[in-house]
Amino acid sequence: MLESTYSSIFKKIKTSLKPHKKEELMGLKTCCKVLRNNIAHYDWVGFYFSNFNTKTLQLKAFSGDPTEHVTIPFGKGICGQVALTNQNFIVPDVKEEDNYISCNINVRSELVVPLFFGGRNIGQIDIDSNKIDAFSKEDENLLVLCCDFISKTYGSRLLEI
Ligand code: SME
Repeated sequence: MLESTYSSIFKKIKTSLKPHKKEELMGLKTCCKVLRNNIAHYDWVGFYFSNFNTKTLQLKAFSGDPTEHVTIPFGKGICGQVALTNQNFIVPDVKEEDNYISCNINVRSELVVPLFFGGRNIGQIDIDSNKIDAFSKEDENLLVLCCDFISKTYGSRLLEI
């Protein structure tokens, strides 16, 4: 997909979040929806946030089929690994990953990008695709921009989400 397409999608996200400046959950849901509705290879989009007391991730907003994996321990699956490594994680083929939690048998590839507030990894955006090797550097860049924007828009409110 063209880089200009990604930048117009990011603009769309910023515009769609404007009415929800004080409603973080609504903002997160809207972001998921805009991403999923505008990018064909995004089949499931969700935000998990860390609970540092229980060392788990909690699903707070998503667009796509409901998942039973609303709580994920740190270290488990792709998401749980990102909670510990603080690094973007592209999985071109989920069948090649031992430490992977399947939410849907149709999923073939996955991309997870951490969300930072005050330099700390407090959550993440998780994208599933039914297409193998669906994600590129452009997807990664877009999601980093989205996470930064969400962090700047909602700030410390995200810690109590
Ligand atoms: N596949 C993820 C679990 C979350 S679902 O994709 C919604 C993982 O391995 O962490």
